Amino acid sequence: MSATIASQTVGPPVGARVRLSSNESPFGPSPAAIEAIEATLAESHRYPDDQSVALRTALAEHENVAVEQVAVANGSAALLMDLIPHLCGPDDEVLAYAHSFIVYRLGAKNAGASYVEVEDGGPAQGEDDGYARDVDALLARVTERTRMVVIDNPGNPTGTHLTGEELAALIRGLPEHVTVVVDEAYHHFATGQRGYQPVRELDVAHPRVLSLRTFSKAYALAGMRVGYVVGPADVVGPLDVYRPRFNVTTAAQAAAVASLGDTAHLRHTIDGTLEGRARMAAGLRELGVPFTDGLGNFLTVECGTAAGPIVEAYGQRGVGVRTLPPYGMDEQFRVTVGTPEETEEFLAASADVLADVPSRG
Ligand SMILES: Cc1ncc(COP(=O)(O)O)c(C=O)c1O
Repeated sequence: MSATIASQTVGPPVGARVRLSSNESPFGPSPAAIEAIEATLAESHRYPDDQSVALRTALAEHENVAVEQVAVANGSAALLMDLIPHLCGPDDEVLAYAHSFIVYRLGAKNAGASYVEVEDGGPAQGEDDGYARDVDALLARVTERTRMVVIDNPGNPTGTHLTGEELAALIRGLPEHVTVVVDEAYHHFATGQRGYQPVRELDVAHPRVLSLRTFSKAYALAGMRVGYVVGPADVVGPLDVYRPRFNVTTAAQAAAVASLGDTAHLRHTIDGTLEGRARMAAGLRELGVPFTDGLGNFLTVECGTAAGPIVEAYGQRGVGVRTLPPYGMDEQFRVTVGTPEETEEFLAASADVLADVPSRG
């Protein structure tokens, strides 16, 4: 993959009025976070706390673990870009499902490691979701060289998930030297639904399981850049040494701490997202367009033809949605749940833009 493609994958669309392309929260950050950010600004001549003590302490309390079990970074993507080269080298394999979050591939590339993808069930068809993941299929691909397994649960851009039972079976089947990274960026939108369970709730004894989380989604702090990892202290500690110093800004640390304390805003965001997701899914179903109704804050739509011109047609109506060529998904696009008004705008545009797509059958 070229550098250009990698940057196109993550950049915002140009000029979209309704921005549904980056799985951001449309509900904005907690007012307490904004206040906390403002309160730090006059101290901007000072370096941040390199150890992020207040944030890590708050997270340890939140996750019910020791502070030594928590490391933070400037986004969970940055954590992955450190974590993979920290633990994997040219002789190693990083194993993931096909159509997983692109950063796993980029991290493996930086590590010089081989990136091995396990086939999934492929596109959604009719009323059925797509991209189903099979535990045995992944376990069958483990070799002596497998050093890391990375699972986005739920996945991006597919929204697909492994249930708690499936994830536990997968982890139990992995050798103890393999590090298992479960990327739970969207866990707030998934918990309690269709068998989903966060990895730390599972009864598994594997010594190298990491839960990776972010403040970019339900906490709506994507622009602040804060992610964290929770796991055994002997895995997390060396990672924290490896990361660049001072990488989480003072404002970001304060915003994250304040967000953890504002459970009412979090609830409002989760409820609004789930309502919006259901409304978006119902609207697409009415149109008869296949899509994957996943557990993230987005849906993955099947066009049955090249998605590029369709995404451009949305853009001409001021609606930004995401093409997915770097994932080898040329006939699909991903749309993030917006505010109720934005979701209606997307559906109104869809009635036009998707009127003649071949996937409607
Ligand atoms: C599965 C997954 N993991 C991690 C991230 C990265 O989040 P962050 O903003 O914390 O780097 C994303 C962002 O879209 C994601 O979809």
